[in-house]
Amino acid sequence: MDIMKKDLLEICNLSTSEIDDLITLAKDIIKNPDKYREHCKNKKIATLFYEPSTRTRFSFESAMLDLGGTVVGFSSPTECSVAKGESVADTARTVECFADIIAIRHFKEGAAYVAATNVDIPVINAGDGGHHHPTQTLADLLTIYTEKKTFENLTIGLCGDLKYGRTVHSLVSAMKRYKGTKFYFISPTKLKMPEHVMTALENCNIEHIETAYLEEAMPELDVLYMTRIQRERFSNQAEYIKLKGTYILDSPKLEFAKEDLCIMHPLPRVDEIAVEVDADPRAAYFRQVKNGKFIRMALIIKLLEATNTERPYITDATEFAPTVIKCRNTRCISSIEQGLTPLFIKAKTGYRCIYCDCKAR
Ligand code: NCD
Repeated sequence: MDIMKKDLLEICNLSTSEIDDLITLAKDIIKNPDKYREHCKNKKIATLFYEPSTRTRFSFESAMLDLGGTVVGFSSPTECSVAKGESVADTARTVECFADIIAIRHFKEGAAYVAATNVDIPVINAGDGGHHHPTQTLADLLTIYTEKKTFENLTIGLCGDLKYGRTVHSLVSAMKRYKGTKFYFISPTKLKMPEHVMTALENCNIEHIETAYLEEAMPELDVLYMTRIQRERFSNQAEYIKLKGTYILDSPKLEFAKEDLCIMHPLPRVDEIAVEVDADPRAAYFRQVKNGKFIRMALIIKLLEATNTERPYITDATEFAPTVIKCRNTRCISSIEQGLTPLFIKAKTGYRCIYCDCKAR
């Protein structure tokens, strides 16, 4: 099996063969859970959750417990010294003294990157602001593979909040590498895919159609990935109220869908999938939740076994004085983390922030 890198910060840290290895291992864990019961005996995961979570945190913790390991952590920043103003870097360095691997979720983009650059143990990004969510994508990939039996020639509709929804950013980054992928990006104009996702897509010649109408895409889709409008990311709540309820998937809409459509959602849902759809055999979202634990078990095993101590994604960043170039994304970790060096990487035009991928000015 491939030697993995030390961390998982974005899904593009994983090669296609590493993803295949994780899926193969997850399937073996599903088939033979007893074989893995003691695999991580004496190992400890720290779950640092600065943002609410049900599935992601429970699945990380259950994954480690089912591997025979133990868990420490917090589910809200009010529970620890973060409430006293401790930085992500200092928190990560402290936790490293007690744990073997970290899973971190933070409301600021690039927080997991900051944690990873301050510790020697593996760091997993469990969601950073509206940026990335690579382990949700691994759960999504296991679900797609189980339901569709292939990653090739799939037409995938991503519907809802494509601007702030971190799960769709990571899913596009994963699926764009497979032959014959075609995307429908279904969103209101105000919630279109961010520039960094679109730029990466243009570089790899993948067919993608942007539309505001779910009905237009429906008959074509093999996979429909619904998402919640991300209320917590809006700086203007009136804007959120205008956009909520834009898309509601219900049984009449599904009459135009393929018989073998796979309906997915990272959950939690608000109102974007009517409860009546749960009884439809095409609704895969609770199977998707279950897959999340097994793929995280596989990931924990692989990261703890990694012998490659390099961090190759920490690339040739350039440092600028904040007065010369500044990241203006208020959701970026660089907007709050004390002592953080502003770092940028050369883009096609200008520079982008290494923490959040936004264009710097
Ligand atoms: C998602 C997240 O946190 O980004 N949930 C999850 O991890 N399963 C989706 C969401 O909150 O809408």
